[in-house]
Amino acid sequence: MEKLEIKGGSKIEIYESVIPQIQSLIEGEEDLIANLANIAAALKEAFNHLWIGFYIVRADKEGLPAIAGADDNTGQTDNLGIGKTLVLGPFQGPIACTRIKFGKGVCGTAWKEKRTLIVPDVDQFPGHIACSSLSKSEIVIPIIHDGEVVAVLDIDSVEYNTFDETDAQYLEKIFDKNLWSK
Ligand code: SME
Repeated sequence: MEKLEIKGGSKIEIYESVIPQIQSLIEGEEDLIANLANIAAALKEAFNHLWIGFYIVRADKEGLPAIAGADDNTGQTDNLGIGKTLVLGPFQGPIACTRIKFGKGVCGTAWKEKRTLIVPDVDQFPGHIACSSLSKSEIVIPIIHDGEVVAVLDIDSVEYNTFDETDAQYLEKIFDKNLWSK
C-alpha cells in the first residue's frame, strides 16, 4: 500500500489532496469496517486532530424495545422493535466511551437531527459527552443511508473553533458515495 501523499498547508489544500485519496481507497474495498478504519487513519494523518472516528447505529445491548418519543431511549427500532444506540467503531486517538444514546451528546444529537453539527466550544453544548478533557471543539457528520442515519463521523480538536463549513462540506463529500451499500 502506498503512503498517503498529503500536499499543501491550508485546510482546503489538505482536503483537496486527501479526499480523492480516501475516495479511491474506499472504491477498491467492499468491507465497511476496513473502509471506516482507513478513513479515520487518513484523516488523522492529514490533520492530526485529537480524536477521529465513527459511532455506528446498532441494536441496544439491553435489547429493550424503544419507547417512541422518549429522549433517554433510542429513537429508532429494527424490524423486531429492538431499540438502537450508537456503538464505538473504528477510530484514531485516545480511548472513548463505547455507547451513546439517541439525542445524547453531540453525536446522539447529530443522529437525532440528521444534520452536521459544528461545536466551536464543547463546554457551551448542553449535554456534551466529554470522552477526553483535552477536547475543546468538535464536528459530527451523520452518515445517511436510505433516509436513516447509519453512523456518525466524530472529530475532536484540542483547540477551540477548529471546525467550520469548509470541514462540513469536505467531510460530507466522503459519504456521497454509497459506502453502506457495499
Ligand atoms: N463528545 C462526543 C462523544 C464522543 S467523544 O468525543 C469521542 C459527544 O458529545 O457526543
